[in-house]
Amino acid sequence: MIEAIGLGKRYGPHVAIEDVSFAVQKGEVLAFLGPNGAGKTTTMRILTGFMSATAGTARIAGFDIFDHPMEVKRRIGYLAENPPLYREMTVAEYLTFVAKIKGLSGRQVTVALGDVLEKCALGHVAKRLIPNLSRGYKQRVGLAQALVHNPEVLILDEPTTGLDPQQIIEIRQLITSLAGGHTIILSTHILPEATAICQRVVIINKGRVVAVDSQEHLSARVRQTEQISLGVRRPQPDTVSILNTLTGVCRVTPKPMDDNGQVFIVESELGQDIREALSETVYKNGWGLLEMRAITLSLEDVFLHLTMQETGLDPAHVETPEPTETPLA
Ligand SMILES: Nc1ncnc2c1ncn2[C@@H]1O[C@H](COP(=O)(O)OP(=O)(O)O)[C@@H](O)[C@H]1O
Ligand SMILES: [Mg+2]
Repeated sequence: MIEAIGLGKRYGPHVAIEDVSFAVQKGEVLAFLGPNGAGKTTTMRILTGFMSATAGTARIAGFDIFDHPMEVKRRIGYLAENPPLYREMTVAEYLTFVAKIKGLSGRQVTVALGDVLEKCALGHVAKRLIPNLSRGYKQRVGLAQALVHNPEVLILDEPTTGLDPQQIIEIRQLITSLAGGHTIILSTHILPEATAICQRVVIINKGRVVAVDSQEHLSARVRQTEQISLGVRRPQPDTVSILNTLTGVCRVTPKPMDDNGQVFIVESELGQDIREALSETVYKNGWGLLEMRAITLSLEDVFLHLTMQETGLDPAHVETPEPTETPLA
């Protein structure tokens, strides 16, 4: 449904993205995962026809984005990273306005409005002024405007940024409910978000695609074990071997001693919660517990994993774009 082929964009001498290629199948939800400045917004703006590329091209439902921009626009709904400030309009007025801009008329507008209010659970605020809505509801309006012409493809740029945890859950649920009926690309700089709602993840860093992988592969590859950082004041020569006897522990790595004591990185099998056993052992042996905390992999760790030769990319998991699909029109 979507294929990007060697997309590149330069701002003067500055390379924003280079040789970005990936493919998204119909009905799939794909995450575009990368830190700030990775090139996510640039790629999305090119795909949606808001910006030209300096290299490569892309096809949406078989239409080249540069040769057939109108065909492409008709098939895409776009939620920008910083949606434009909404004027003093009610939700219904604004969505009607957008529907007309997107070429709907008469009865089509009424039907589209009803559909999208229902899909985005906005019916009860249809007559409210948008500036008075919470951020979560504004974001739903943003999704609704992207959906109003019932496009096959949705491109959502960091749709949960700036929302509170409850709103994030609701927006994620909404996006998940739209999958299948629409092909979705969403960008995020949050790893758990990518693995929570997307079937596949394109990881982009410094303008380049670092990996394309399924959600399961990615999680497994970067998280084969749980890690706990355990700090004790009075480590003993047998501390490592004692820790190694605990059920579920698969590796213990001592860090250098410092003035306070010593830190041990204790790795356990996924799903094994060893914290209680650890604290008991420390107490029983009189080592003096200083700290115990779970180590979570940051996005940077993931990139390190993926870009390092030894641990890194299995070429079998790096995909090339699928062959062109025939236009659906
Ligand atoms: N209008 C612009 N002019 C110059 N450089 C830009 C412009 N927009 C983005 N960039 C640069 O391009 C790179 C990619 O930016 P962007 O696509 O916004 O990344 P992301 O959305 O992943 O945070 C960054 O280095 C950014 O500074
Ligand atoms: Mg961005």
